[in-house]
Amino acid sequence: MQRVRGVVAKAKGEPVSIETILIPDPGPGEAVVQVQACGVCHTDLHYREGGINDEFPFLLGHEAAGVVEAVGEGVSGLEPGDFVVLNWRAVCGQCRACLRGRPWYCFATHNAKQKMTLEDGTVLSPALGIGAFVEKTLVAAGQCTKVDADASPAVAGLLGCGVMAGFGAAMNTGGVSRGDSVAVIGCGGVGNAAVAGARLAGAAKIIAVDIDDRKLDWARSLGATHTINSSRIDPVEAIRELTGGFGADVVVEAVGRPETYTQAFYARDLAGTVVLVGVPTPDMKLELPLLDVFGRGGALKSSWYGDCLPTRDFPMLIDLYRQGRLDLEAFVSETIALDEVEAAFTKMHHGDVLRSVVVF
Ligand code: APR
Ligand code: ZN
Ligand code: ZN
Repeated sequence: MQRVRGVVAKAKGEPVSIETILIPDPGPGEAVVQVQACGVCHTDLHYREGGINDEFPFLLGHEAAGVVEAVGEGVSGLEPGDFVVLNWRAVCGQCRACLRGRPWYCFATHNAKQKMTLEDGTVLSPALGIGAFVEKTLVAAGQCTKVDADASPAVAGLLGCGVMAGFGAAMNTGGVSRGDSVAVIGCGGVGNAAVAGARLAGAAKIIAVDIDDRKLDWARSLGATHTINSSRIDPVEAIRELTGGFGADVVVEAVGRPETYTQAFYARDLAGTVVLVGVPTPDMKLELPLLDVFGRGGALKSSWYGDCLPTRDFPMLIDLYRQGRLDLEAFVSETIALDEVEAAFTKMHHGDVLRSVVVF
Protein backbone atom coordinates (compact mmCIF):
# COMPACT_ATOMS: atom_id res chain seq x y z
CA MET A 1 0.00 0.00 0.00
CA GLN A 2 1.30 3.45 -0.92
CA ARG A 3 0.10 7.03 -0.42
CA VAL A 4 0.26 9.33 -3.44
CA ARG A 5 -1.34 12.55 -4.72
CA GLY A 6 -4.03 12.49 -7.40
CA VAL A 7 -6.80 14.55 -9.01
CA VAL A 8 -10.29 13.64 -7.85
CA ALA A 9 -13.75 14.79 -8.99
CA LYS A 10 -15.81 14.51 -5.82
CA ALA A 11 -19.19 15.77 -6.95
CA LYS A 12 -21.03 16.64 -10.13
CA GLY A 13 -19.89 19.93 -11.66
CA GLU A 14 -17.56 20.80 -8.79
CA PRO A 15 -13.95 21.79 -9.44
CA VAL A 16 -11.53 18.90 -9.07
CA SER A 17 -9.18 18.71 -6.09
CA ILE A 18 -5.87 17.12 -5.23
CA GLU A 19 -6.31 14.32 -2.73
CA THR A 20 -4.20 11.70 -1.04
CA ILE A 21 -4.87 8.37 -2.71
CA LEU A 22 -4.12 4.91 -1.33
CA ILE A 23 -2.70 2.52 -3.93
CA PRO A 24 -2.80 -1.21 -3.07
CA ASP A 25 0.20 -3.34 -3.94
CA PRO A 26 -0.47 -5.21 -7.18
CA GLY A 27 -2.47 -8.41 -6.82
CA PRO A 28 -2.63 -11.26 -9.32
CA GLY A 29 -2.68 -9.92 -12.88
CA GLU A 30 -2.16 -6.32 -11.77
CA ALA A 31 0.61 -3.74 -12.03
CA VAL A 32 1.48 -0.50 -10.28
CA VAL A 33 2.74 2.14 -12.70
CA GLN A 34 4.64 5.26 -11.82
CA VAL A 35 2.89 7.79 -14.04
CA GLN A 36 5.21 10.18 -15.90
CA ALA A 37 2.69 12.06 -18.05
CA CYS A 38 -1.06 12.17 -18.53
CA GLY A 39 -3.02 14.21 -21.09
CA VAL A 40 -6.23 16.07 -20.29
CA CYS A 41 -9.10 14.61 -22.34
CA HIS A 42 -12.74 15.63 -22.78
CA THR A 43 -13.83 12.43 -21.16
CA ASP A 44 -12.25 13.55 -17.87
CA LEU A 45 -14.39 16.65 -18.00
CA HIS A 46 -17.45 14.56 -18.90
CA TYR A 47 -16.85 12.44 -15.79
CA ARG A 48 -16.61 15.55 -13.63
CA GLU A 49 -19.85 16.87 -15.10
CA GLY A 50 -21.65 13.63 -14.32
CA GLY A 51 -22.06 12.93 -18.02
CA ILE A 52 -20.69 9.37 -17.88
CA ASN A 53 -22.23 7.96 -14.70
CA ASP A 54 -22.90 8.86 -11.06
CA GLU A 55 -20.17 6.78 -9.46
CA PHE A 56 -18.42 9.70 -7.76
CA PRO A 57 -15.71 10.22 -6.61
CA PHE A 58 -13.71 9.72 -9.79
CA LEU A 59 -9.95 9.47 -10.03
CA LEU A 60 -9.48 11.32 -13.31
CA GLY A 61 -6.89 10.93 -16.07
CA HIS A 62 -6.44 8.10 -18.57
CA GLU A 63 -4.12 9.27 -21.38
CA ALA A 64 -0.87 8.29 -19.78
CA ALA A 65 2.60 6.85 -20.01
CA GLY A 66 4.92 5.77 -17.25
CA VAL A 67 7.22 3.13 -15.84
CA VAL A 68 6.11 -0.13 -14.28
CA GLU A 69 7.03 -0.16 -10.61
CA ALA A 70 5.76 -3.57 -9.54
CA VAL A 71 3.75 -6.45 -10.96
CA GLY A 72 1.54 -8.96 -9.16
CA GLU A 73 1.46 -12.73 -9.25
CA GLY A 74 1.09 -14.46 -12.58
CA VAL A 75 2.01 -11.43 -14.69
CA SER A 76 4.21 -12.33 -17.62
CA GLY A 77 5.73 -10.17 -20.32
CA LEU A 78 5.81 -7.11 -18.09
CA GLU A 79 8.49 -6.18 -15.56
CA PRO A 80 9.42 -3.36 -13.23
CA GLY A 81 11.25 -0.71 -15.27
CA ASP A 82 9.27 -1.26 -18.48
CA PHE A 83 8.15 1.96 -20.20
CA VAL A 84 4.46 1.66 -21.00
CA VAL A 85 1.50 3.51 -22.43
CA LEU A 86 -1.70 2.78 -20.53
CA ASN A 87 -4.68 1.57 -22.54
CA TRP A 88 -8.34 1.02 -21.81
CA ARG A 89 -8.58 -1.97 -24.08
CA ALA A 90 -6.83 -4.82 -22.28
CA VAL A 91 -8.37 -7.55 -24.40
CA CYS A 92 -9.76 -10.63 -22.66
CA GLY A 93 -9.13 -13.20 -25.39
CA GLN A 94 -12.36 -15.01 -24.54
CA CYS A 95 -15.38 -12.86 -25.32
CA ARG A 96 -17.36 -13.31 -28.53
CA ALA A 97 -15.42 -10.54 -30.31
CA CYS A 98 -12.03 -11.93 -29.28
CA LEU A 99 -13.01 -15.47 -30.23
CA ARG A 100 -14.03 -14.30 -33.68
CA GLY A 101 -10.59 -12.76 -34.18
CA ARG A 102 -11.73 -9.16 -33.71
CA PRO A 103 -10.09 -8.24 -30.40
CA TRP A 104 -10.25 -4.49 -31.09
CA TYR A 105 -13.97 -4.81 -30.28
CA CYS A 106 -13.30 -6.82 -27.06
CA PHE A 107 -16.44 -6.61 -24.91
CA ALA A 108 -14.85 -7.75 -21.64
CA THR A 109 -11.66 -5.73 -21.26
CA HIS A 110 -9.62 -6.11 -18.08
CA ASN A 111 -9.20 -3.55 -15.29
CA ALA A 112 -7.50 -3.87 -11.89
CA LYS A 113 -9.61 -5.93 -9.45
CA GLN A 114 -8.48 -4.14 -6.30
CA LYS A 115 -9.66 -0.60 -5.66
CA MET A 116 -7.76 2.61 -5.13
CA THR A 117 -9.30 4.66 -2.32
CA LEU A 118 -9.23 7.98 -0.49
CA GLU A 119 -7.59 7.99 2.95
CA ASP A 120 -10.94 7.41 4.66
CA GLY A 121 -11.46 4.27 2.59
CA THR A 122 -13.90 5.75 0.06
CA VAL A 123 -13.55 3.70 -3.11
CA LEU A 124 -12.56 5.69 -6.19
CA SER A 125 -13.89 5.09 -9.71
CA PRO A 126 -10.90 5.41 -12.02
CA ALA A 127 -11.66 7.20 -15.31
CA LEU A 128 -11.97 4.61 -18.10
CA GLY A 129 -10.69 2.00 -15.67
CA ILE A 130 -7.31 3.74 -15.47
CA GLY A 131 -7.13 6.87 -13.26
CA ALA A 132 -3.79 8.47 -14.10
CA PHE A 133 -3.72 12.05 -12.81
CA VAL A 134 -1.90 10.47 -9.91
CA GLU A 135 1.73 9.80 -9.11
CA LYS A 136 1.19 6.03 -9.19
CA THR A 137 -1.75 4.01 -10.37
CA LEU A 138 -2.98 0.42 -10.15
CA VAL A 139 -4.08 -1.18 -13.42
CA ALA A 140 -4.54 -4.61 -14.96
CA ALA A 141 -1.22 -5.75 -16.43
CA GLY A 142 -2.88 -5.93 -19.86
CA GLN A 143 -3.54 -2.20 -19.66
CA CYS A 144 0.21 -1.62 -19.94
CA THR A 145 1.53 -1.60 -23.50
CA LYS A 146 5.31 -1.55 -23.78
CA VAL A 147 6.75 0.97 -26.25
CA ASP A 148 10.22 2.23 -27.13
CA ALA A 149 11.61 3.94 -24.03
CA ASP A 150 13.26 6.69 -26.08
CA ALA A 151 9.90 8.38 -26.65
CA SER A 152 9.09 11.19 -24.26
CA PRO A 153 6.29 10.30 -21.82
CA ALA A 154 4.21 13.39 -22.72
CA VAL A 155 4.15 12.30 -26.34
CA ALA A 156 3.74 8.57 -25.77
CA GLY A 157 0.85 9.02 -23.37
CA LEU A 158 -1.22 10.71 -26.06
CA LEU A 159 -1.62 7.37 -27.76
CA GLY A 160 -3.57 6.15 -24.76
CA CYS A 161 -6.78 7.85 -25.86
CA GLY A 162 -7.64 10.83 -28.06
CA VAL A 163 -4.80 10.76 -30.53
CA MET A 164 -5.15 7.00 -31.01
CA ALA A 165 -8.89 7.44 -31.47
CA GLY A 166 -8.30 9.95 -34.28
CA PHE A 167 -5.52 8.02 -36.04
CA GLY A 168 -7.51 4.85 -35.78
CA ALA A 169 -10.69 6.48 -37.06
CA ALA A 170 -8.87 7.21 -40.31
CA MET A 171 -6.53 4.23 -40.56
CA ASN A 172 -8.43 1.38 -38.89
CA THR A 173 -12.14 2.20 -39.05
CA GLY A 174 -12.10 4.31 -42.21
CA GLY A 175 -9.57 2.06 -43.93
CA VAL A 176 -8.06 5.09 -45.66
CA SER A 177 -5.65 3.95 -48.31
CA ARG A 178 -3.28 5.31 -50.92
CA GLY A 179 -4.91 7.88 -53.19
CA ASP A 180 -8.12 8.33 -51.20
CA SER A 181 -9.76 11.68 -50.65
CA VAL A 182 -10.50 12.25 -46.98
CA ALA A 183 -12.39 14.98 -45.15
CA VAL A 184 -12.19 15.48 -41.40
CA ILE A 185 -14.90 17.53 -39.70
CA GLY A 186 -13.76 18.92 -36.35
CA CYS A 187 -10.02 19.34 -35.95
CA GLY A 188 -9.34 19.20 -32.23
CA GLY A 189 -6.86 16.65 -30.92
CA VAL A 190 -8.94 13.78 -32.28
CA GLY A 191 -9.70 15.24 -35.71
CA ASN A 192 -6.15 16.41 -36.21
CA ALA A 193 -4.92 12.92 -35.41
CA ALA A 194 -7.27 11.66 -38.11
CA VAL A 195 -5.64 14.15 -40.49
CA ALA A 196 -2.20 12.82 -39.55
CA GLY A 197 -3.47 9.25 -39.89
CA ALA A 198 -4.88 9.96 -43.34
CA ARG A 199 -1.53 11.36 -44.41
CA LEU A 200 0.32 8.32 -43.09
CA ALA A 201 -2.09 6.05 -44.93
CA GLY A 202 -1.31 7.80 -48.22
CA ALA A 203 -4.45 9.85 -48.78
CA ALA A 204 -4.08 12.10 -51.81
CA LYS A 205 -6.40 14.83 -50.63
CA ILE A 206 -7.06 15.69 -47.01
CA ILE A 207 -9.70 18.33 -46.36
CA ALA A 208 -9.87 19.71 -42.82
CA VAL A 209 -13.08 21.38 -41.63
CA ASP A 210 -13.51 23.40 -38.44
CA ILE A 211 -15.14 26.60 -37.23
CA ASP A 212 -11.90 27.81 -35.63
CA ASP A 213 -9.02 29.01 -37.83
CA ARG A 214 -6.39 28.07 -35.23
CA LYS A 215 -7.47 24.44 -35.51
CA LEU A 216 -7.23 24.63 -39.27
CA ASP A 217 -3.65 25.96 -39.03
CA TRP A 218 -2.75 22.93 -36.94
CA ALA A 219 -4.48 20.68 -39.44
CA ARG A 220 -2.42 22.12 -42.28
CA SER A 221 0.80 21.52 -40.39
CA LEU A 222 -0.25 17.90 -39.79
CA GLY A 223 -1.04 17.13 -43.40
CA ALA A 224 -4.29 18.76 -44.51
CA THR A 225 -4.06 19.72 -48.17
CA HIS A 226 -7.14 21.95 -47.96
CA THR A 227 -8.96 23.68 -45.12
CA ILE A 228 -12.53 24.91 -44.80
CA ASN A 229 -13.88 27.19 -42.11
CA SER A 230 -17.47 25.93 -41.94
CA SER A 231 -18.66 28.95 -39.98
CA ARG A 232 -18.16 30.91 -43.18
CA ILE A 233 -18.84 28.44 -46.00
CA ASP A 234 -21.00 25.40 -46.52
CA PRO A 235 -18.62 22.48 -45.93
CA VAL A 236 -20.65 19.99 -47.97
CA GLU A 237 -20.50 22.13 -51.09
CA ALA A 238 -16.86 23.01 -50.50
CA ILE A 239 -15.84 19.36 -50.03
CA ARG A 240 -17.73 18.38 -53.18
CA GLU A 241 -16.06 21.16 -55.14
CA LEU A 242 -12.65 19.98 -54.01
CA THR A 243 -13.43 16.40 -55.06
CA GLY A 244 -14.61 16.84 -58.64
CA GLY A 245 -18.19 17.42 -57.53
CA PHE A 246 -18.50 13.98 -55.90
CA GLY A 247 -17.53 14.12 -52.24
CA ALA A 248 -14.72 12.46 -50.31
CA ASP A 249 -14.07 8.72 -50.17
CA VAL A 250 -13.88 8.81 -46.38
CA VAL A 251 -15.31 11.49 -44.08
CA VAL A 252 -14.37 11.44 -40.41
CA GLU A 253 -16.74 13.20 -38.03
CA ALA A 254 -14.75 14.23 -34.94
CA VAL A 255 -17.20 16.58 -33.26
CA GLY A 256 -20.09 14.33 -32.20
CA ARG A 257 -23.12 16.41 -33.22
CA PRO A 258 -26.10 15.70 -35.52
CA GLU A 259 -25.35 18.74 -37.73
CA THR A 260 -21.78 17.75 -38.37
CA TYR A 261 -22.74 14.10 -38.83
CA THR A 262 -25.26 15.19 -41.46
CA GLN A 263 -22.53 17.21 -43.17
CA ALA A 264 -20.29 14.16 -43.14
CA PHE A 265 -23.08 12.03 -44.55
CA TYR A 266 -23.62 14.31 -47.54
CA ALA A 267 -19.97 15.28 -48.04
CA ARG A 268 -18.89 11.74 -48.96
CA ASP A 269 -18.92 10.22 -52.41
CA LEU A 270 -21.46 7.55 -53.34
CA ALA A 271 -20.41 4.28 -51.70
CA GLY A 272 -18.00 6.20 -49.49
CA THR A 273 -17.46 5.76 -45.78
CA VAL A 274 -18.51 7.94 -42.86
CA VAL A 275 -16.67 7.40 -39.60
CA LEU A 276 -18.18 8.80 -36.41
CA VAL A 277 -15.47 9.21 -33.76
CA GLY A 278 -16.94 12.29 -32.04
CA VAL A 279 -19.01 11.24 -29.03
CA PRO A 280 -22.60 12.53 -28.93
CA THR A 281 -24.64 13.20 -25.77
CA PRO A 282 -27.80 11.21 -24.89
CA ASP A 283 -30.20 13.98 -25.94
CA MET A 284 -29.00 14.09 -29.56
CA LYS A 285 -31.10 12.70 -32.40
CA LEU A 286 -30.23 12.20 -36.04
CA GLU A 287 -32.78 12.64 -38.80
CA LEU A 288 -31.94 11.54 -42.34
CA PRO A 289 -34.10 10.48 -45.28
CA LEU A 290 -33.88 6.69 -45.24
CA LEU A 291 -33.85 6.75 -49.01
CA ASP A 292 -30.58 8.71 -48.88
CA VAL A 293 -29.12 6.17 -46.48
CA PHE A 294 -29.95 3.47 -49.00
CA GLY A 295 -29.29 5.42 -52.16
CA ARG A 296 -25.90 6.78 -51.17
CA GLY A 297 -24.67 3.31 -50.23
CA GLY A 298 -21.28 2.70 -48.68
CA ALA A 299 -20.63 2.40 -44.99
CA LEU A 300 -21.68 4.36 -41.91
CA LYS A 301 -19.32 3.32 -39.13
CA SER A 302 -18.57 4.26 -35.56
CA SER A 303 -15.04 4.18 -34.25
CA TRP A 304 -14.56 3.14 -30.64
CA TYR A 305 -11.06 4.11 -29.52
CA GLY A 306 -10.05 4.14 -33.18
CA ASP A 307 -10.70 0.38 -33.39
CA CYS A 308 -7.17 0.13 -32.07
CA LEU A 309 -5.35 -2.89 -30.79
CA PRO A 310 -2.90 -1.35 -28.32
CA THR A 311 -0.29 -4.10 -28.66
CA ARG A 312 -0.30 -3.67 -32.43
CA ASP A 313 -0.80 0.07 -32.81
CA PHE A 314 1.02 1.82 -29.94
CA PRO A 315 4.52 0.48 -30.63
CA MET A 316 4.06 1.04 -34.37
CA LEU A 317 3.01 4.68 -33.94
CA ILE A 318 5.87 5.32 -31.52
CA ASP A 319 8.29 3.87 -34.08
CA LEU A 320 6.86 6.11 -36.80
CA TYR A 321 7.18 9.07 -34.46
CA ARG A 322 10.81 8.23 -33.70
CA GLN A 323 11.53 8.00 -37.42
CA GLY A 324 10.13 11.51 -37.90
CA ARG A 325 7.16 10.29 -39.92
CA LEU A 326 4.53 11.29 -37.40
CA ASP A 327 4.60 14.60 -35.54
CA LEU A 328 3.21 13.63 -32.16
CA GLU A 329 4.86 16.65 -30.51
CA ALA A 330 2.42 18.88 -32.38
CA PHE A 331 -0.41 17.58 -30.20
CA VAL A 332 1.22 18.66 -26.94
CA SER A 333 0.11 22.30 -26.68
CA GLU A 334 1.43 22.71 -23.15
CA THR A 335 2.78 20.71 -20.25
CA ILE A 336 1.30 21.46 -16.84
CA ALA A 337 1.54 20.41 -13.20
CA LEU A 338 -0.92 18.11 -11.45
CA ASP A 339 -2.70 21.01 -9.75
CA GLU A 340 -3.42 22.71 -13.08
CA VAL A 341 -5.95 20.21 -14.42
CA GLU A 342 -8.93 22.43 -13.61
CA ALA A 343 -7.35 25.33 -15.53
CA ALA A 344 -6.65 22.95 -18.41
CA PHE A 345 -10.36 22.05 -18.56
CA THR A 346 -11.11 25.73 -19.13
CA LYS A 347 -8.54 26.01 -21.92
CA MET A 348 -9.90 22.86 -23.52
CA HIS A 349 -13.40 24.24 -23.30
CA HIS A 350 -12.31 27.43 -25.04
CA GLY A 351 -10.49 25.48 -27.76
CA ASP A 352 -7.11 26.99 -26.87
CA VAL A 353 -5.22 23.70 -26.90
CA LEU A 354 -5.02 20.38 -28.71
CA ARG A 355 -3.80 18.74 -25.52
CA SER A 356 -2.59 19.92 -22.13
CA VAL A 357 -0.40 17.22 -20.64
CA VAL A 358 0.37 16.82 -16.95
CA VAL A 359 3.99 15.86 -16.43
CA PHE A 360 5.17 14.49 -13.10
N1 APR B 1 -18.30 22.26 -37.21
C1 APR B 1 -16.98 22.00 -37.33
N2 APR B 1 -16.16 21.90 -36.27
C2 APR B 1 -16.69 22.08 -35.07
C3 APR B 1 -18.06 22.36 -34.86
C4 APR B 1 -18.88 22.45 -36.01
N3 APR B 1 -20.17 22.70 -35.91
N4 APR B 1 -18.27 22.48 -33.53
C5 APR B 1 -17.09 22.30 -32.94
N5 APR B 1 -16.13 22.07 -33.85
C6 APR B 1 -14.71 21.83 -33.65
C7 APR B 1 -14.09 22.64 -32.55
O1 APR B 1 -13.72 23.93 -33.01
C8 APR B 1 -12.88 21.80 -32.20
O2 APR B 1 -11.74 22.14 -32.94
O3 APR B 1 -14.55 20.49 -33.27
C9 APR B 1 -13.32 20.38 -32.55
C10 APR B 1 -13.54 19.50 -31.35
O4 APR B 1 -12.31 19.33 -30.80
P1 APR B 1 -12.00 19.28 -29.26
O5 APR B 1 -13.06 20.04 -28.54
O6 APR B 1 -10.58 19.62 -29.05
O7 APR B 1 -12.23 17.73 -28.93
P2 APR B 1 -11.37 16.45 -29.28
O8 APR B 1 -10.51 16.10 -28.12
O9 APR B 1 -10.72 16.58 -30.59
O10 APR B 1 -12.54 15.37 -29.36
C11 APR B 1 -13.52 15.46 -30.37
O11 APR B 1 -14.09 13.16 -30.22
O12 APR B 1 -13.48 11.48 -28.77
C12 APR B 1 -14.43 12.45 -29.07
O13 APR B 1 -15.33 13.03 -26.89
C13 APR B 1 -14.56 13.49 -27.99
O14 APR B 1 -16.62 14.22 -28.90
C14 APR B 1 -15.25 14.55 -28.76
C15 APR B 1 -14.60 14.46 -30.13
ZN1 ZN C 1 -12.56 -10.00 -25.43
ZN1 ZN D 1 -9.86 10.18 -23.43
